[in-house]
Amino acid sequence: MRAATVTAPGRAPEPAEHPDPPVPDGDGVLVEVTASPITPLDVLCASGTSYFGAPALPYVPGVQGVGVVRHGPSELVGRRVWFPTTAGMTPGDGAMAALAVADAAAVVPLDAALDDTAVAALGLSAVAAWEVLERRAALAPGETVLVLAAGGAVGQAAVGAARVLGAGRVVAAARSEEALERARSLGADAVVELRTGEGAADLTARLLGTVEDGFDVVVDPLAGVPGTAAVSALATGGRLVNLGSSAGPAVTVDSAVLRSRSAAVLGYTNVSLTPARQAEVLTTVLRHAAAGSIAVEHDVVPLEEVGAAWAAVAAGRAGRRIVLVP
Ligand SMILES: NC(=O)c1ccc[n+]([C@@H]2O[C@H](COP(=O)([O-])OP(=O)(O)OC[C@H]3O[C@@H](n4cnc5c(N)ncnc54)[C@H](OP(=O)(O)O)[C@@H]3O)[C@@H](O)[C@H]2O)c1
Repeated sequence: MRAATVTAPGRAPEPAEHPDPPVPDGDGVLVEVTASPITPLDVLCASGTSYFGAPALPYVPGVQGVGVVRHGPSELVGRRVWFPTTAGMTPGDGAMAALAVADAAAVVPLDAALDDTAVAALGLSAVAAWEVLERRAALAPGETVLVLAAGGAVGQAAVGAARVLGAGRVVAAARSEEALERARSLGADAVVELRTGEGAADLTARLLGTVEDGFDVVVDPLAGVPGTAAVSALATGGRLVNLGSSAGPAVTVDSAVLRSRSAAVLGYTNVSLTPARQAEVLTTVLRHAAAGSIAVEHDVVPLEEVGAAWAAVAAGRAGRRIVLVP
């Protein structure tokens, strides 16, 4: 089969002939892949620097995909599904190929009226955005929400999810004018430009200028200066949930801010979701996406062009989620 293949840590995968996966036993499904996104997690795993350790090489990356089940439990055969893999985290191949094997218990049958590429673009990024808001931050109707990195896949999904979950005011922060414009169209009430080189105190002041009493909930895929600035913009009882470190490895927390406001800084990872909860959240998100309330803009790229697409994601210049189609 054709597959994207990583042959060295940190090197972009190239399209190549790769052995078909073995037909799985009773716990697995064989999926004919129709779409697979290139995400920061894929790039991190292939770099060999993730906390999962260096991947066994060569391997096919792709921690998630969409396709049609060709072999597995009878109730799944012929079904259109979304599926996760552990490619790059444990030995074995992932979704950036014509065929992939997945755990039958983790496969999510798809009923929503959405293109396979739209489902792939939403995928785990949208699951994280929803779960952070609904469960980790326990967003209550009417609360104010700040979404950092609102131009990214998590951020775009979080703006829409915050609206669906009843947020009172949604503020989106991002670097580019295009991302800020997109956030407005997704339902943000106000936007804040993230400026390179700006200090945390100045950014905190500009963030606080968009709400009355600070933010009840912050979705933080960035850490670094924006994350640090957002902690100081929390309201009394506010919760900042960090789920990534795209802007820096650490968030600096002012003890007086935490104590005086009984605020909380929390962490989140999709890895701790059960397959059942992951399926429930994805199905919910896709239902809202089909209704037009949640979206992640994306570009569709042939698998044969994976090298250039991957390099763009790794360099942070992709602009939109890239979805590969075999
Ligand atoms: N914990 C979890 O379970 C989980 C799940 C999903 C994602 N994540 C993490 O969350 C983060 C975002 O994921 P994603 O899927 O949304 O990725 P993405 O689509 O690639 O978006 C990344 C976003 O980060 C912004 N960004 C990068 N560096 C920045 C900086 N120095 N200052 C300000 N903004 C910066 C980018 O802005 P530009 O558009 O201006 O470049 C872009 O909007 C990643 O670190 C990812 O690993 C974690």
